[in-house]
Amino acid sequence: MNVLVLGSGGREDAICRKLASSPLLDKLYALPGNGGTDKVAIPISGSVMDKERVLRACHDFLIDYVVVTPDDPLAIGMVDFLSRNGIKSFGPGKAAARIESSKAFAKDLMKKYSIPTAGYKVFIDADKAIDYVRGASFPAVIKADGLALGKGVTIAGNFNEAEKAIRDSMLEHKFGLSGEKIVIEEFLEGPEISVLAFTDGKVIRPMVSSMDHKRAFDGDRGPNTGGMGTVAPNPYYDEETEKEAMEKILIPTIRAMAKEGCPFKGCLYFGLMKTENGLKVIEYNSRFGDPETQVVLPLLESDLLEIMLATTDGSLESVDIRWKKGSACCITIASSGYPGPYEKGKQISIDDGFDATLYIAGAKEEDGILKTSGGRVLNVVSTAPLLRDAVENAYRNAEKIHFDGAFFRKDIGRKALEVLNG
Ligand code: AMP
Ligand code: GLY
Repeated sequence: MNVLVLGSGGREDAICRKLASSPLLDKLYALPGNGGTDKVAIPISGSVMDKERVLRACHDFLIDYVVVTPDDPLAIGMVDFLSRNGIKSFGPGKAAARIESSKAFAKDLMKKYSIPTAGYKVFIDADKAIDYVRGASFPAVIKADGLALGKGVTIAGNFNEAEKAIRDSMLEHKFGLSGEKIVIEEFLEGPEISVLAFTDGKVIRPMVSSMDHKRAFDGDRGPNTGGMGTVAPNPYYDEETEKEAMEKILIPTIRAMAKEGCPFKGCLYFGLMKTENGLKVIEYNSRFGDPETQVVLPLLESDLLEIMLATTDGSLESVDIRWKKGSACCITIASSGYPGPYEKGKQISIDDGFDATLYIAGAKEEDGILKTSGGRVLNVVSTAPLLRDAVENAYRNAEKIHFDGAFFRKDIGRKALEVLNG
C-alpha cells in the first residue's frame, strides 16, 4: 500500500525510516518531509494544516493510508476529514485529540474517572484567576488550555510571577486563543516518565518507556524546549511502577475516552510523574513524542505499519508487538539561541567514521549541501545492549557533527545511569 506521513521533524524521520522497512509498503510519501525523510519518502509540498491539499495529494498519489503525526492537524480534525472522504489514517479524531488540545478537557476527564493527577482549577476570567492565586501555595503551575508549542506552562514561584503568567496568557494573548482559558495546578515533584502507547480505543499496548530532557541546558537548567534528548527504557519505570501505570492510568484512560463517546485511536502519550503519593499524570499528548519516538522506534522489532493499521481497524488485540532488548540514547543537536530566536542556513559537516543513526529534525539539502533550517537540527541516536554504551556511542558521534552555533546537552542519560548504578 502507499502511505503518506504528515510532518517534518526528527520524529517523522524516525517514523518514515521504520515504515520504509515494512513488507506491507509499496510507496512512502512525506508532506512536507525534510532532509532526512527525503532519503526514504517521496516529498510532497504543502502544509500539514491544509486539509484540501492533503486530500488532493491522497488522490494524486493514490495514497491508501495517512499517518497524521503532529498535534495541530489532529486538533483540527484531519483524521475525521480524511475518513469522511474515504481515506484511512493513523491518529485520533478531533474529539479524542482534545485529550491534548484542551488541558481543561484532560483534567476534567481525569477527575471524573479518578485517574491520579495534580489538583487543579479551570479559569476563563483573569480577575478570578488572580484572586485565586492570591491565596494559593507556591510554586503554582499555570497552564494555557490549548496547544502552545510546549511553551504554555509556567511554574510560578510567587504571587507576582503567577499574576504575570495569568495576565500574559489571558489578557495579552501570548498564546493566542489557546491561552484565553487557563488551568492552575498544584505543583508536583518527582522523576518524569514518558510512556507512549498504541491503542485502538479498546486495547492499549504500551511501548518501551523513555525519559525526556526538556530544559535547554545541563543539569536541567534554562528554558523548557521541545526536548533536548532522550533515553529508553526509563529506569524509574520498574515492574511495580509499570503495573501501577497500567491499572490506575493507562487502562482507565482508554475506558474513560470510550465512555465519553470519543474512543482514542493512534498513539497516546502519557507524561507521568513518580511522586511521593504515587504515579500521577502530568500531561497527555495525542501523538508520538519528539524526541521520545527517536529512541522508542529503534527498539521496535515488529512491523510498525501493521501495528498502525490495527489501531485504525480496531484489531490491535490480534497483533504481536515485540521489542528488542537493550537501550537507546538520542542527543538533540540544536541551533544556538534555541528555544529562542536562532539563525538558519548554516552548513552542516559530519566527520568520517560517523556510525550512529542520524535523524534530521530541522535541516534541508540545498544543491547537495545539508543546511540548518530549524531550532532542533539533528538527532544522533545509538542503541546498545547497555544504556552506558548507547550514551557513550551517541556522544562520540555527536562530537563529529559541526555547524556554526551547534550546541547539545552533555548530560543526556546521566540521571538514568545514576539510577541504574544505584
Ligand atoms: P506539560 O506541557 O504539561 O507537560 O508541562 C511541561 C513541563 O512542566 C512538564 O514536563 C513538567 O516538567 C512541568 N510541569 C507540568 N505540570 C507540572 C506540575 N503540576 N507540577 C510540577 N511540574 C509540572
Ligand atoms: N517530548 C515531549 C513532547 O513530545 O511533547
